Amino acid sequence: MSMVSRFAANVAFWTAAVSAALVAVASLRFLALGVSASMEFVAHNLDRNALMLYAHIGVAPIALALMPFQFMTRLRASRPKLHRWLGRGYVVSILISGIAGLQLAFHTTAGTFAATGFAILAVLWLATTGIAFAFALRRQFPRHRAWMLRSAALTFAAVTLRVYLGSSMAAGVDFEVAYPLIAWLCWVPNVFVMEVYLQMARPGKTRLISATA
Ligand code: HEM
Repeated sequence: MSMVSRFAANVAFWTAAVSAALVAVASLRFLALGVSASMEFVAHNLDRNALMLYAHIGVAPIALALMPFQFMTRLRASRPKLHRWLGRGYVVSILISGIAGLQLAFHTTAGTFAATGFAILAVLWLATTGIAFAFALRRQFPRHRAWMLRSAALTFAAVTLRVYLGSSMAAGVDFEVAYPLIAWLCWVPNVFVMEVYLQMARPGKTRLISATA
């Protein structure tokens, strides 16, 4: 990889890692402020669905915060045990928050179109992560890496959703119009971009997603 493309890959990685950390921390605001005050849109779940709500909003940020560490090449090489433990944490947190996210999808007040987008995202999130974990157990590491990248592209939907939501609000688009579309837009392009990358990065081709940290 040339110095310029290595620099570009590192900038992209660190931008994604910092935005994932910021969204993860911001998502835990309910701990200080309470759900009703800080996440009014999902507060209706407190009535009969509080366990699933807390399982999702309390655990999903852990997956998001752990994800970037798993793609740090030097860290992975120098601390393989740490990589395995963080990986288990990532998988377990997705198992819990993914099942809860699937259940929350059926309780969204944003309509069937949004519910379907979130539900498919949840199923794909659980499936890609489970497949990636299974390949790690079988020590099939190129396949493990490819499926973890697919899982990460879906985890990153938490960031893209908030970026699109913020942008649409800034552009004055009606929330009722924007939100159901964003329930799909937050992950479909991520999947597409990752599949293009995985095609480009097949053995013998350039490796772009990883940091040297
Ligand atoms: C990628 C799979 C994910 C799925 C399928 C999913 C699904 C959902 C659903 C259905 C809701 C309720 C939305 C509504 O009622 O309209 C929700 C809310 C929420 N999710 Fe996720 N989610 C995912 C990933 C994440 C991640 C990685 C985070 C970590 C930050 C996260 C944090 C939250 C938070 C904090 C809320 C409360 C809404 C708010 O931010 O105000 N989710 N999610």
